[in-house]
This record gives sequence, structure tokens and C-alpha cells, in this order.
Amino acid sequence: MDGRPHFLMTDPGHYDVSYQINPWMKPQDWTPQRLAQAKASAGALKAALEDAGAAVEMVEAAAGLPDLVFPANAAVVLDGRVLLARFRYPERQGEEAVFRAAFKDLRRRGLVDKIVDLPPGMFHEGAGDAIWDADRKVFWAGFGPRSSRQALPVIAQVFGREVVGLELASDRFYHLDTCFCPLAGGKLLYYPPAFTPAAQADIRARVPQAQRIEASDADAAAFCVNAVNIGARIVMARAPDALKARLSARGYHVIEVDLDPFILSGGAAYCMTLRLDRTSTPTANLLAAE
Ligand code: ARG
Repeated sequence: MDGRPHFLMTDPGHYDVSYQINPWMKPQDWTPQRLAQAKASAGALKAALEDAGAAVEMVEAAAGLPDLVFPANAAVVLDGRVLLARFRYPERQGEEAVFRAAFKDLRRRGLVDKIVDLPPGMFHEGAGDAIWDADRKVFWAGFGPRSSRQALPVIAQVFGREVVGLELASDRFYHLDTCFCPLAGGKLLYYPPAFTPAAQADIRARVPQAQRIEASDADAAAFCVNAVNIGARIVMARAPDALKARLSARGYHVIEVDLDPFILSGGAAYCMTLRLDRTSTPTANLLAAE
């Protein structure tokens, strides 16, 4: 890797909303015309990332796997190591083989190093439920609706890093990335009602009040917490003015992309991407040094 942030995205050519595995998905609202909008949206997101200095690797679309457009759920990636996901719902389990092949290809190309399988008997939906906090050097890991609690010690062992478990309390915010977004500099954008009282207390214990930015109901429903942060830039779905003002007052610059076709499936900027180049220490990425 060349020092640029590297992301994985998926070609949206076979995207649609044809089943319902979360409350945002409304197959009856899907029309074929929306595919063209989805392609434009995904293209705009890719352009926004590249404009922020990132490189984007693409996975090919696969017929019958519409949610392949959400590669955040494919794996947890840190220090060149890839822990492959296991999806809870049969509707998405076909994605596992496609992503495995995609990671093998990335490994051949030297963009990742090691591919690891989750032990049997548990689910885990990748970086959607295990978010690396580059300032605190811990994984924050959501569990409940999709990922199993038993997967947390596996993540800790595979990556040799502390994992802070956060139980998710709402089926509307079913992946951690819908309600929790660490920002460069140690701030945290998050939506407290998505968490159990115990998880809220764990967040408050580790993130001082001055660093917590609480998303409103409107911010969370607009999928603005599901954002990609690159330095001072935060790339997100169309955002309420109040949120933009609050983030800009803290020194961040919000870049909005119309992601409505993907919000119709319960996803937005963060989960349409997977960061490949995260390292736990400045020297940990041996691949980069090669
Ligand atoms: N329709 C997809 C699902 O329910 C959306 C996934 C969005 N991913 C995410 N990490 N938030 O699985």
C-alpha cells in the first residue's frame, strides 16, 4: 500500500431491495429505476473518497446478492489481517464466498496479508460491528441483532487488541456502524438510544464528555452516523443542517452524498466501504514497509 487510505467498495450493478432483514428495507418501494440512481450514488461516494485522497478497490457485482454493496460487513481488517464474516441471515450468506475470493485476490496483490476464518457456532458481520478506534487503539464491537457476543474474544485474539463490547438495543440500529463513529482526534459521533444502558455507560467511561457528539434522532434516521472519516473530512449521506453546524464548529468538514437508494436497504457511506489499510501501530503494517 502506498500510504493513501485504501477502501473496498462493490459495484452496485446487481443492487436492489428484494427482501427484508432490517426495518428500513421496503421491497415494495424498490423500482427498477432506482438502480440507475444507486449507480450514480455509489459513483459519487467513490469520487468523494478519491477526492479526499483515498484509493478505492472494487469488488464485482454478483447476481442474487444485492447487499454485496455493503462490504463493511465482509470482514474485520487490521494490520493486513482479515477476519472473514459469517452472516446471520441466509439472504446474505452467499456473500461469504464472494468476499473470500475478493480477499484472496487482494492478498495476491499484496494489499492484505492473512485471511482468517471465524470458529463455527457464531455470527459476525465484519467492520459493521467491529470499528477500529485509531486514537484509543481498541476495537469497539457491537453485538446482539447480528453479531454474536462470542465473536468478541475471537477478534481480540486474532488482532491482539482490546475489544470493547457494546450491546445494541434496537433493531433499527442493528449494526454498530449505524450508531457509532469514532472521529480523527478522539471525538466520537454516536446515537445513545441505540445502546443498552450498560453500553452507554461503557462509552461514557472511556470517552470524556467533551469528546462525545450525540447524534439526534433525525441525524441517526438520516444515516449520518454511518460516515467515513478521513482526517478532517467526514463523508456522509445528506445531513441535517444542525449536524453539519455542530461538526463544523468542532473543526470537521462534512461532505454530503445523496445515498437515498442505499438508505432504502438500511445502509449508507460507512457500510458501503471497507477500510483495508488500518494499522494498530505506526510500524505494524509490514506490508507497507515492503
Ligand atoms: N440490507 C443490509 C442488511 O440488512 C444493509 C447492511 C448495512 N450494513 C451496515 N454495516 N450497516 O444487512
